[in-house]
Amino acid sequence: MPRFWRSTRYAQSQDRSINTYRNLLLLVFLCLVGYGISNFAYSSVIFVVCVVSLAVVLVAQMLWEYQAWTKRTNHALLHHPSLELDHKLLHYDDGLPQQQQPQKEIRIFMDGAFDLLHFGHMNAFRLAKSLGTHLIVGVNSDHSIADCKGCAPLMNTQERTTMVQACKFVDQVIPDCPYIMNQEYLDWIFTTYNVDYVVHGDDACIVNGKDVYESAKRTGKFRTIPRTNGVSTTDIVGRMLLLTKEHHILDSSSIGRASSKFLTTSRMLRLFSADHQAPPPNCRVVYVDGSWDLFHPGHVQTLQACRSHGDYLIVGIHNDSVINQMRGMNLPLMNLHERVLSVLGCRYVNDVLIDAPFEINPAMVQNLNISKVLRVTHNHDQTSADVSRFQYPIAAGIFHTLHLESDFCITNVIQRIKANQETFQERFDRKSLLEQEHEGLRRR
Ligand code: CTP
Repeated sequence: MPRFWRSTRYAQSQDRSINTYRNLLLLVFLCLVGYGISNFAYSSVIFVVCVVSLAVVLVAQMLWEYQAWTKRTNHALLHHPSLELDHKLLHYDDGLPQQQQPQKEIRIFMDGAFDLLHFGHMNAFRLAKSLGTHLIVGVNSDHSIADCKGCAPLMNTQERTTMVQACKFVDQVIPDCPYIMNQEYLDWIFTTYNVDYVVHGDDACIVNGKDVYESAKRTGKFRTIPRTNGVSTTDIVGRMLLLTKEHHILDSSSIGRASSKFLTTSRMLRLFSADHQAPPPNCRVVYVDGSWDLFHPGHVQTLQACRSHGDYLIVGIHNDSVINQMRGMNLPLMNLHERVLSVLGCRYVNDVLIDAPFEINPAMVQNLNISKVLRVTHNHDQTSADVSRFQYPIAAGIFHTLHLESDFCITNVIQRIKANQETFQERFDRKSLLEQEHEGLRRR
């Protein structure tokens, strides 16, 4: 029952009881007048008493009604829909923890290849976890993927496991899972990890004409979640295949955005940042910026290291044209919104700065309460040694360079495609058709 309606009803019942009292007193008054007329001696005294009590009742009623009216007006103002919305938004932005009902643990198991882990996979983890309370993810082994999909994944087991582990929606990871969920493996999963449900996207997963989840479906503990449209490993491989064709150099106006079919809604951004809290007072806010294109294990290592330099990590993400100016060709591979979602899905990140200024300026340091600005260098570095864009943090004494012994970068992945271009092209053509079929089926 809405609070406003309830309070109006309350005021109405108060008015009704006042009227009853007034009618009763009127009746008593008339009786007394009648009694006074019949007993003439006391008539004037009785008349005065009656008039005074009637006047008292009338004044009391007026005061009561005035009080009820002010109460109703204040309540209506407080609960005006737009103000109520502002109130809720304020509450949300403050990042106050949501009250959660203690619930029984429900353990969800989801497996997959998770090659070139993208925000579609991360969204699948988010949805799967929402079916229970604890998410265990099995990462298919390299050889089982090669056997079942016809070619090895681009990223090896260790790289894919690192990426899955870094996703904030995942609680536990099991590496080297078989691609085909046979009964023996299912029994092991159910007993070792106390799994309640096995979950997969709603796309068909067929190997040699057989459903990979046939046994899981027979247990009655199989559930599906909707596949995230507009993004897939195949789609990203397609973007890289374009990049490897030397004649294909797009002009910067169509960079990156040209090939993305993903529709980024504010709702999706909100779902990916639902756990974000404002930095607590006196915490050390660390800032690092970059392109974070094709989110990979090198990025995860960087973000983990940056997070350990403070209590709260804000990640700046440059826009597509800034990156294109720095990297050229048709980079970035993923557009700004896609890169934002991937970074938001990383467990080491507390907040992101979308379309971050290239030069770190005093206003942003002050507004975001940044106490340390990090510049990360790697062994493979192609980034310029020019630190002029860090002029302000250097002068303010809050600039630090962090060197990481990592050799993973986007060029590694592109080279892997180049080394096996024909195989990937063939796989891309085959899988694109299957994905189009799936999207067509869903639209019907
Ligand atoms: N998935 C999803 N949305 C996507 C891509 C994948 O929900 N856009 C889900 C799949 O349905 C599956 C899980 O993520 O449950 C793992 O998928 P994976 O084994 O990596 O293979 P694909 O389904 O081929 O995904 P992709 O094409 O992106 O590699």
